Amino acid sequence: MTVEAMSNVDKVFFDYVTAEEVEDAAKHEQQVFPAGEADTPEQFRYRFAHARHLFLGAFVPIISRSGHPRGRKLIGHVCGTQSALDDYTKESMSIHTPYSPSICVHSVCLVESFRSKGIGSRMMREYFSRVQWYRFTQDMSRRKPKRILLLCHDEKKRFYEKLGFVCKGKSGVVYGAGVWYEMHFDLDQN
Ligand SMILES: CC(C)(COP(=O)(O)OP(=O)(O)OC[C@H]1O[C@@H](n2cnc3c(N)ncnc32)[C@H](O)[C@@H]1OP(=O)(O)O)[C@@H](O)C(=O)NCCC(=O)NCCS
Repeated sequence: MTVEAMSNVDKVFFDYVTAEEVEDAAKHEQQVFPAGEADTPEQFRYRFAHARHLFLGAFVPIISRSGHPRGRKLIGHVCGTQSALDDYTKESMSIHTPYSPSICVHSVCLVESFRSKGIGSRMMREYFSRVQWYRFTQDMSRRKPKRILLLCHDEKKRFYEKLGFVCKGKSGVVYGAGVWYEMHFDLDQN
């Protein structure tokens, strides 16, 4: 049966990824980011196994030629882990510490044909609202996340600042090429 993924921006929706879709997310990561900067499929699998509540996908519906829904196709993702520290560290890329105050986002990525159409901003806002819901529904005895942290290069700072992140200056983390800036999003104030 012939099926096709819809390219209509209005059809984009967000949901948590499944185990099969983690592999697609890891492939996108390898395609989009330069070697040395792209996280490995193993890191993606670890994040899914330990922190799937922080692994959100952007999807388009797959529709058969006769117009019937046949599934969904991953076109982007944002994923992270939790850390007990106040700043983003390299260790957080491979270790999830449950019930801790910092959510470290490691990958924000859209396939090229869907960029600059507002989808990345929508995906991040959806992420914020799901994290807020997670905080709200979490057991009172547990420590709740207080902030979202991420690293980005200079040219992406504006994208994150428009979403409410504040730049805390250059990060001490070294990986890949270029300077990284540490961005903080306060979950109590946003
Ligand atoms: C970074 C990324 C996730 C942003 O997603 P995006 O969907 O392209 O971003 P948005 O469209 O929401 O916003 C980007 C720009 O498009 C503009 N835009 C928003 N809606 C638009 C629309 N309907 N038409 C045209 N432009 C639009 C925004 O104003 C923004 O402009 P700015 O550059 O002046 O801030 C995406 O570009 C990407 O995956 N890039 C490659 C991977 C990457 O660099 N990830 C970040 C690592 S830190």
